[in-house]
Amino acid sequence: MSDHHDLDRRHFMKAGAATVAGLAAGASYERAAHAQDTNKPATGVGRAKPVVIASANGMAAVERAMEQLKAGADPLDAAIAGVNIVEDDPEDITVGLGGLPNEDGVVELDASVMHGPMHKAGAVAALQGIKNPSMVARLVMQRTDHVLLVGQGALRFAKAHGFKEQELLTDKARKIWLRWKESHSKNDDWVEAEELEGAIPGNPDAIPFTWGTINCCALNANGDLGGVTTTSGLSYKIPGRVGDSPIIGAGLFVDNDIGAAGSTGRGEANLQNCSSFAIVEAMRHGQSPEQACLTVLQRIADHAEPRLRDEKGRAKFGLKFYAVAKDGTFGSASMWSGGQMAVHDGAQARRIEAAYLYKK
Ligand code: GLY
Repeated sequence: MSDHHDLDRRHFMKAGAATVAGLAAGASYERAAHAQDTNKPATGVGRAKPVVIASANGMAAVERAMEQLKAGADPLDAAIAGVNIVEDDPEDITVGLGGLPNEDGVVELDASVMHGPMHKAGAVAALQGIKNPSMVARLVMQRTDHVLLVGQGALRFAKAHGFKEQELLTDKARKIWLRWKESHSKNDDWVEAEELEGAIPGNPDAIPFTWGTINCCALNANGDLGGVTTTSGLSYKIPGRVGDSPIIGAGLFVDNDIGAAGSTGRGEANLQNCSSFAIVEAMRHGQSPEQACLTVLQRIADHAEPRLRDEKGRAKFGLKFYAVAKDGTFGSASMWSGGQMAVHDGAQARRIEAAYLYKK
């Protein structure tokens, strides 16, 4: 692990070069206009202060993770304890128990974890019947020589470690899925039932459609990092579809010398751009967490295929990044305005507006 003095010096020396490189590349995005200045250092030089960041649905998660960090917990354990709150919540339709199912009505969960000091990772994908995939991912890291287990193998592994299989499809999620199924076409034998909760017959746009996820990264007072991303993935996905969340470097990446990054939103964009890894690399080369998130968002927007662009050529999907550097600075950026992140800086938990590429 680098000491803080070395890190700060390297950070400082590379920052100038990165700025020049960015200008030379003619960075076209509206970064300066839309930066939210969340990047105020949370630490003194050479002294780390615990910080926990998460996606906006992680207010309770950052509270719990910070409590655990203050009690001396490992940063990865603290982050996992935080996201377990959302995995356990049947009302959240994007993660764990109660997550929206695949097109067959089966909930399939993805998660990854990464431990900074060990530089080890674990992940599970398309896991059915276990509400805390983040905990199974940690066991993959701790108790196997592998990084990723999928499907039936992941389920057998979880059960071998004592996890209880249960139905993850709640009535709320089942009704939303049924409404989605019934609204596909006028040329099938499904009839939209007027009485289904929360749905507007004949208006498929009123049906929740989500890539919702929770990402949480924690930095402890020693400057050590851990991160987790957990999700039920794309709603109504083709069975077996795996998103970015369980793919190290896409939905999560931690480098204990530099920082941690994670994402929520369109997973395919992160899979095609190794986004979380790229954010950490941008921080390695001197960018602040917020700048790094914006840099990678712009790269993704530049690469977006025509069918995913609006009439002005803008990437029309949602994508958000969250990043924390080893020095305690943090930031977030979203493809579209209105994004937020949850942060606990040791004093209080709060939501902060994310920087963005495009204004809604
Ligand atoms: N980012 C979550 C997913 O695409 O599955």
